[in-house]
Amino acid sequence: MGYNVAIDGPAGAGKSTIAKLVAKEKGYIYVDTGAMYRGLAIHFLNNGLRPEETAKIVEACKSAEVSIGYENGMQQIYLNGENITGRLRTEEVGNMASKTSAIPEVRAKLLELQRNLAAKEDVIMDGRDIGTNILPNADVKIYLTASVETRAKRRFDELTEKGLECDYEEIAKDIQERDYRDMNRDIAPLKQAEDAHLVDSSDMTIDEVVAAIVKHCK
Ligand code: DC
Repeated sequence: MGYNVAIDGPAGAGKSTIAKLVAKEKGYIYVDTGAMYRGLAIHFLNNGLRPEETAKIVEACKSAEVSIGYENGMQQIYLNGENITGRLRTEEVGNMASKTSAIPEVRAKLLELQRNLAAKEDVIMDGRDIGTNILPNADVKIYLTASVETRAKRRFDELTEKGLECDYEEIAKDIQERDYRDMNRDIAPLKQAEDAHLVDSSDMTIDEVVAAIVKHCK
């Protein structure tokens, strides 16, 4: 069994930034499970499906093979053998992933892949249900969150820095909708595991958040 750190929390809390830094410091492999849901979402979009077409999505799961690899330490996602990493991070794909991840068959498709990775390697795995469902016996569990305002502001700054036009209110609304969906679905909703350490990064620097997590790790 690998040494397992689970890091869950809402969209935009900084999980991937923080998890990558902890992984580097401690020598763990970083596993981004949201990217796997996004990979499946691309498959559904490629097939012209809408999120409410549940039966067709369940059927489409059968023709999707999502796998994970690493290039220079960076996680890559493959969909039926094709590297689709560069296409994962759009709002369209994120929203499709948030909606379709509420379908039990979609979650079942990725569960084994996630558990197998954690069984073999020392990992820090980020997602929504890692501490509560995927790795209930993880060595360390972190629930990383921040206020909606902080998360929206960070996203706004990130997009503006890239020269992209965006609207703060719209971003905040999108984050609230995503939180609601991720926290209120029937299967594996986002919630803090009873034995998770709560880290609210609203008023913390990146270094402070990393230190707050590393102190719990072996
Ligand atoms: O972390 P992210 O924004 O890349 O994740 C995209 C969506 O995937 C998220 O809104 C909900 C879903 N997801 C999930 O249901 N369970 C996980 N472990 C990770 C992501």
